[in-house]
Amino acid sequence: MPPENAPEVLALAAYISYLSHHEVIGREPAGRGSPTIPETGFDPNPANGKVIYQQKCAACHHKNGEGTQIAPPLWGFNAYNAGAGMNDIRKAAGFIWANMPLGQGKSLSYQESLDVSAYLNMQIRPNDPRNSKFRKLLEDIASAFGLIKN
Ligand code: HEC
Repeated sequence: MPPENAPEVLALAAYISYLSHHEVIGREPAGRGSPTIPETGFDPNPANGKVIYQQKCAACHHKNGEGTQIAPPLWGFNAYNAGAGMNDIRKAAGFIWANMPLGQGKSLSYQESLDVSAYLNMQIRPNDPRNSKFRKLLEDIASAFGLIKN
């Protein structure tokens, strides 16, 4: 976190205010969040998800999930991290069902959305920065030198 009056913080605050233009406090802005998809009665099947991924997602997100010029990576070192909401199978399935493949939202079934989410969930991605080993190590060192108080 930069200092509260840092140019980056002021710029972000200005941007968020700009996005809120014409919004009413306490009312959900249109398009916020993703739907929760209903129970299907079947466990997510990542093997089927892999097939769906290669058929319907790889053209934009790359067959190895690393992203392309037109779509972000879905796994690997540059993708969203393990602490992101998207790393939750049901949340990802809701987003994917509503929005993906881009331009063809709501074309996958609920089960297909769960299956492809389970496949994404099995891939390697950056750690949750809130509990990475590196952070813990830095905190231990800082506390050993009295730089932070526990
Ligand atoms: C036509 C290109 C295209 C196809 C096909 C496509 N996507 Fe995407 N996808 C995108 C783009 C572009 C974004 C970024 C959207 C944005 O930021 O508004 C995106 C974003 C995403 C995200 C969010 C990533 C993040 O970091 O938050 C997920 C998850 C995702 N897509 C999954 C899928 C899945 C699963 C499929 C196949 C069922 C799929 N996409 C097919 C273009 C595509």
